[in-house]
Amino acid sequence: SAETAAETYAEIGVIGGSGFYSFLDDVREVAVTTPYGSPSDSLFLGELAGRRVAFLPRHGRGHHLPPHRINYRANLWALRSVGVRQVMGPCAVGGLRQEYGPGTLLVPDQLVDRTKARVGTYFDGEPLPDGTVPNVVHTTFADPYCPEGRAVALAAARGRGWEPVDGGTMVVIEGPRFSTRAESRWHASMGWSVVGMTGHPEAPLARELGLCYTSMALVTDLDAGAETGEGVSHTEVLRVFGENIGRLREVLFDAVGALPKTEGRACLCTRANEGWDLGIELP
Ligand code: ADE
Repeated sequence: SAETAAETYAEIGVIGGSGFYSFLDDVREVAVTTPYGSPSDSLFLGELAGRRVAFLPRHGRGHHLPPHRINYRANLWALRSVGVRQVMGPCAVGGLRQEYGPGTLLVPDQLVDRTKARVGTYFDGEPLPDGTVPNVVHTTFADPYCPEGRAVALAAARGRGWEPVDGGTMVVIEGPRFSTRAESRWHASMGWSVVGMTGHPEAPLARELGLCYTSMALVTDLDAGAETGEGVSHTEVLRVFGENIGRLREVLFDAVGALPKTEGRACLCTRANEGWDLGIELP
């Protein structure tokens, strides 16, 4: 029915912690299957700030999926399949500079991939079902994040009295272990700003599907090369995340309400593969 269709539709996706979806109005849990397997969890669909939103707990509810086990392809595909065209991706990161201490919110504009064993594309070179052209696609990715989404996230943070860092490079490591001091110093010496474990391949997969993607990186610790203590601990990351989750949620919700209408977007995100035969049918 039309009512059911409306309930299973969302224009904005949020991939983040389980602390988010309990705030949706009329939340509805929808289990989605994809040609790439199962997403991290059900989608939680509902209304927020007048917009239809789908939440996906990145690590599954109960946080049972480590970063290298997340089925990133299924996650982005599932979101797109319910109508999502713009994605916000809050995540926890380590700071690579003294001035990016715990509690800093950084909205990166660049990404460096240091992961090793993740499937990072939908365009795997498999022949099409009719046996003809293999689907080889090289997606434009010079600017990995949506400029409109970034502007909205920064404005939302400022509106809540949080002075965010506008831009910077997020390096994504394979994990699940944290970096050694040497790795961390090297990352910092390259001029990179923060280090995380989930930002890749989330961002490029979103781009391949023509989705706008915005990263919101909450610094939970100074990474090993930038601090003088014993090194980053999981306990510390969870504690600082807990201290900032309320604020992050407010900013995220304001940002969702302020995102441009899906039809009105002028960014390149939707057109990264324009005019190219993708070889796959997007959901
Ligand atoms: N996530 C939170 N803190 C991190 C760190 N120091 N390195 C990698 N990922 C992180």
